[in-house]
Amino acid sequence: MERVVILTGAGVSAESGLGTFRDRDGLWTKYDLNEVATPEGFARDPSKVHEFYNARRANAAGAEPNAAHHALARLGQALGDRLFLVTQNVDDLHERAGSLGVVHMHGRLDRARCAACGETWAAPMAMHHADPCPCCGRPATRPDIVWFGEDVQWMEEIETALASCQLFVSIGTSGTVWPASGFVARASFYARARTMEINLEPTGVPGAFTDRRLGPASEAVPAWVEEYLSRAG
Ligand code: APR
Repeated sequence: MERVVILTGAGVSAESGLGTFRDRDGLWTKYDLNEVATPEGFARDPSKVHEFYNARRANAAGAEPNAAHHALARLGQALGDRLFLVTQNVDDLHERAGSLGVVHMHGRLDRARCAACGETWAAPMAMHHADPCPCCGRPATRPDIVWFGEDVQWMEEIETALASCQLFVSIGTSGTVWPASGFVARASFYARARTMEINLEPTGVPGAFTDRRLGPASEAVPAWVEEYLSRAG
């Protein structure tokens, strides 16, 4: 079986009720990302940032994986370590649907990090900036989320996977945020991979993808996974 890299974005969790960022009623139409998703915003008002992520953490905890998450878990069972699933999402719906080894390049809502010593631990549902770090004891708790202007996580592993895959599939992402938006070019240039976009509407640069499936993820992803697995035999 061939090596497949799948990148997911907020669109894969939209039908689980978690919303997206740049759609009509997206998160960035309600919040100023400079205030809640940058190190500068956290330094200015850590309580506001924790309130923002505490609300998202509670929202994610109350959500359920949808048929797209379950279909990707089935694909992972069939492909094993030949599937590399990287997500921009910070929810754990892929894991709760049964996917293993999910790579969270933008961090995770269910993890906390110490801004002083870098220690990470399982996040409580509600976090406060004065919570002491369990390792160094300093009151420097932040969400283990990658903010704008910070380096994404697992980039070396992601680049290795992109350079050796035969198929790259982008699901539910607007393709507007670097470096994830460059993954399709890396896969097609370095690995000569086939590339597919599964999204509610066409995105990105024309011609970036060799194939495209349009529709809500909860319908388009299961349909594609079944088709892919039946062809793979
Ligand atoms: N099914 C499939 N696709 C959908 C659905 C759905 N039900 N609903 C929305 N979409 C698509 C939208 O058409 C859009 O192209 O999902 C995409 C969501 O785009 P964004 O809101 O920009 O989210 P995303 O691409 O994940 O953002 C990337 O930006 O703000 C940062 O860190 C944040 O990880 C996020 C990153």
